[in-house]
Amino acid sequence: MYCHIKDLSKHVGDTVTLRGWLYNRRDSGKIAFLVIRDGTGLCQCVVAKSPETESFFEQSRRLGQESAVKVTGLVRANEKQIGGHEIDVSGLEVVGESTDFPITPKPHGIDFLFKNRHLHFRSRRQWHILRVRASVIDEIRSYFNRNGFTLIDTPIFAPAAGEGAQTLFEVDYFGEPVYMAQTGQLYVETACMAFGKVYCFGPTFRAEKSKTRRHLTEFWMVEPEIAYAELDDVIAVAEDFVHAIVQRVLKDHREDLEFLGRDIASLEAIQKPFYRLTYSEAADLLHSSKAKDLLQNDLETKNARIDELKKAIEEKDKQSEAQGVKQWQKDKLVAELAEHREELGDLEEEVKNIPHHMDLAANFQWGKDLGGSDETIISRLHDRPTFVTHYPRDVKAFYMKKNEQDDRICNNFDLLAPQGYGEIIGGSQREDSYDELMAQINRHELDPADYAWYLDLRKYGSVPHGGFGLGVERTIAWMCGLKHIRETIPFPRMMGRFYP
Ligand code: 4AD
Ligand code: MG
Repeated sequence: MYCHIKDLSKHVGDTVTLRGWLYNRRDSGKIAFLVIRDGTGLCQCVVAKSPETESFFEQSRRLGQESAVKVTGLVRANEKQIGGHEIDVSGLEVVGESTDFPITPKPHGIDFLFKNRHLHFRSRRQWHILRVRASVIDEIRSYFNRNGFTLIDTPIFAPAAGEGAQTLFEVDYFGEPVYMAQTGQLYVETACMAFGKVYCFGPTFRAEKSKTRRHLTEFWMVEPEIAYAELDDVIAVAEDFVHAIVQRVLKDHREDLEFLGRDIASLEAIQKPFYRLTYSEAADLLHSSKAKDLLQNDLETKNARIDELKKAIEEKDKQSEAQGVKQWQKDKLVAELAEHREELGDLEEEVKNIPHHMDLAANFQWGKDLGGSDETIISRLHDRPTFVTHYPRDVKAFYMKKNEQDDRICNNFDLLAPQGYGEIIGGSQREDSYDELMAQINRHELDPADYAWYLDLRKYGSVPHGGFGLGVERTIAWMCGLKHIRETIPFPRMMGRFYP
């Protein structure tokens, strides 16, 4: 009987057959321990040398990592083992051999792993992350579906910029330039006038020339848009929606989060209401001693860790060169040294940047956009997501609604995830006046002809409306507690990275 590893608890005492791949193996002469993965989990399968296993015992000891195998045996409960079960093997069939699988249990550099991304996501860590991704995406769709939003698919080939012109990817469309969609927003705006509440969900493209931990050139964004809505209405939806995603991940992915070392308590602390700051208040916070102390404290703890790592590296270097060290000890030391050196490199880079970030925060000028380091500071000073509202119009997109009391600012918001994750949502009320929108198009030196259809919405029954865009990968990085966004998508596209 074929069985998935996730279902083993229903088969204790039965003999079943797993179909999977060899994840890891060790043996002690008379017993081989094969850790099998089948896409639903991992299970240790024990092959004991006996007349019954004679025909495949030697073969099982030589199996290469990632060999495809069918393993038959008796299921036993064993709390101590991975997944809580173990199989006493009575049959083994090799379906597809594998020799010299490039990604071994040893540490590898990031570049190597991502060049082998097609194999990399067989690794446990990637498996856990991408499972969370699948649920986040499912929750996104089901949240909007159950709340009365109609799905509207928006085009990928777009005739004009939806966000800034600096990040457009141009494509030759039968001799004419078109652009890869940066957003579906302008199109869902048209649709909300037909359906009331709508959303689009798909890949979006930005020619981001910076290699940061938060930027991809191809990422997934969900964009709801609501007719008869003002800024506060949109914020209320964003709050409820993000809360729902967090609850879903907590409900279905505790084990994944635990494996990833995510601090689960801090996700459990995400309750409504989220915090709200105006842009001006955020600027005050950046100037405050709170921001300064945070970075000063970072500098101290990071420098202390750097000293610690340098000592450990020196020590381990010596140990690995000493006489009489066994090969396995040497391998272990080499692996630890590689990890230490990577951490040291990261920390030295971070420490080098801290004075600059302090400077940026202390001298932040009203009127500038919040930079990545500013967002990090604000988001680290809050234990729940924080809405930052009412940015200066000059640094924001042309379509944002001018504030009625203060025409220097617009009715927009960014949502910053806590713990330093920063912006996961950008949204706003939209400019619904024809004349104001036309003025904005001119101010931003856009061609009104490109936006004639968009301007039409302001001619035929214009109403207050608004929406937002949530970046899927940044949300997953936050959920999983990852430093870098590149692990949250099966095949990341970044500057300098588009293979495989
Ligand atoms: O703030 P952004 O640029 O907003 C828009 O595109 C609006 N049209 C959305 C709307 O109102 N309908 O992008 C929205 C979100 C960001 O908060 C971020 O999470 C994500 O998209 N994002 C990126 N994620 C990964 N890599 C990039 N280069 C990203 N750029 C934006
Ligand atoms: Mg934004």
